[in-house]
Amino acid sequence: MILDGRKTADTLNELLKEKVALLKRKPKLEIILIGNDPASLSYVNSKLSQASNLGMDVHINHLDEFVKNEIVSDLITQFNQDHAVDGILLQLPLPKHLDGNQLMDLIDFHKDVDGFHTVNQGLLFQKKDGIRPATPKGIMMLLDHYQIPIEGMHVVVIGRSQIVGLPVAKMFLDRNATVTITHSKTKDLKSITQSADILVAAIGKPKFVTKDMVKTGAVVVDVGINRVDKKLVGDVDFEHVSEIASYITPVPKGVGPMTIAALAHNLYELYIKGESRK
Ligand SMILES: NC(=O)c1ccc[n+]([C@@H]2O[C@H](COP(=O)([O-])OP(=O)(O)OC[C@H]3O[C@@H](n4cnc5c(N)ncnc54)[C@H](OP(=O)(O)O)[C@@H]3O)[C@@H](O)[C@H]2O)c1
Repeated sequence: MILDGRKTADTLNELLKEKVALLKRKPKLEIILIGNDPASLSYVNSKLSQASNLGMDVHINHLDEFVKNEIVSDLITQFNQDHAVDGILLQLPLPKHLDGNQLMDLIDFHKDVDGFHTVNQGLLFQKKDGIRPATPKGIMMLLDHYQIPIEGMHVVVIGRSQIVGLPVAKMFLDRNATVTITHSKTKDLKSITQSADILVAAIGKPKFVTKDMVKTGAVVVDVGINRVDKKLVGDVDFEHVSEIASYITPVPKGVGPMTIAALAHNLYELYIKGESRK
């Protein structure tokens, strides 16, 4: 069965839209986009259109590819101080000359809509209330929407990035799954993935996960977005793996729309938390 991220996101967004309509002002998101990477431009436009449809106020600050670190720092500081701004999003990847870690941590963690700030990552790893990274959060929202049991399941995550693999593993652990994190140095990956009840692929290699790596009846979550011959392809060989998986996310229309939905939910959460601090 297909885990339809598009439809699920639409359903969850309808509920969010109703809650946003009750707020005394529109939640405001400032997106900082640097350079002209086509994938980043397309993600930012999706974020803009979806948040706007939900009644949120989104503004894109499109900066030159060669912009100085100081200019970006100043802009972040300005948004940090602006009480009308609820969320700040620094679109990744950044050009190499910029200090991504420094810029990300300069964002007031109370406005960190992506959940990438060191404080928010720390809150996740201490199992405390905080903003969760959008892609892992979107994955959990999708599985919950389809009422897929998590407790006691063996979850295998391929990938250990700070934005997907590591946080999603922690979120599954917090839901009482037994979690194995694998990466490029893992030996005999296939023997591990074959024991997964839930397999999450966050690698960035087209069709990396093949049918022989997957247990019959497993739930397969494909995070990968790879462009092959101008088409979007996931990290999972969908055509063949879908023959044996009980549930599987497609690419596109799987994890992608859920990530954007989770971002909008994070912005709403930032607004509510910000208002309660006033
Ligand atoms: N759908 C969405 O909304 C969304 C959001 C974010 C990312 N993505 C996509 O998800 C994919 C992963 O993104 P990311 O940011 O997590 O990527 P990343 O930072 O490049 O991390 C990739 C991970 O895959 C591991 N890996 C690479 N080759 C491997 C192999 N042969 N066997 C096992 N593990 C291997 C790496 O291991 P090492 O740590 O050992 O190098 C690393 O941990 C990309 O395609 C990205 O575009 C999608």
